[in-house]
Amino acid sequence: MIRLSSDRPLIAPSLLSCDFARIAEEVAAIEEAGADLLHVDVMDGHFVPNITIGPLIVDAIKRHAKTPLDVHLMIADPDRYLQAFRDAGADILTVHQETCPHLHRTVQAIHALDAMAGVSINPATPVSLLKDILGEIEMVLIMSVNPGFGGQRFIEQAYEKISELRMMADAQGLSDMLIEVDGGVSVQNTAALQSAGADILVSGSAIFRSGDYAAYIRELRTG
Ligand code: DX5
Ligand code: ZN
Repeated sequence: MIRLSSDRPLIAPSLLSCDFARIAEEVAAIEEAGADLLHVDVMDGHFVPNITIGPLIVDAIKRHAKTPLDVHLMIADPDRYLQAFRDAGADILTVHQETCPHLHRTVQAIHALDAMAGVSINPATPVSLLKDILGEIEMVLIMSVNPGFGGQRFIEQAYEKISELRMMADAQGLSDMLIEVDGGVSVQNTAALQSAGADILVSGSAIFRSGDYAAYIRELRTG
């Protein structure tokens, strides 16, 4: 399992908003600009309305990536595909709580592949549902939009969910557990997200539409 840098916050640009026809150049440019992780959004047209990329493209990205791949599985029955995405180069495998009836077993399967395990929750899913799995995972991904598309408006309730999760983790003595936030993240909300307790900021459209990746990432980091 990889270890992430201890600097906070970590910035994870979502490749969903990059130019897929120039994926190798985009990966190089975003890493050069200061990305800590590459966030890869996998969608299946079942759990979420959109369809994006599969293991084949993750493998293509991996061949050009120097930073870890943070693979966000927005797919039904993710257990069936963990091995394929790990083989393709995923360093972090994040599944949705809503897709896993046997979440503990799924987390064990991710660890058996020597990947970091993340669990994500949708905006309508309460943080309290994660209480009994927190001690088993490396990361929680709080969705601050309904998953499926880039460029949506940030849902403000995410601040409260991040604070609540941070308190829950502290109460269990889990100071290393990472909190990632995804959806509508920009320079408008980065400071508030960091003070709520977010460790990893995923940002897609804001970074890729900024015109200056490095300057935007710097602003996201400093708040
Ligand atoms: C949404 C994805 C996000 C998305 C974020 O379903 O999980 O990672 O790409 O994009 P922005 O930053 O544009 O909201
Ligand atoms: Zn995502």
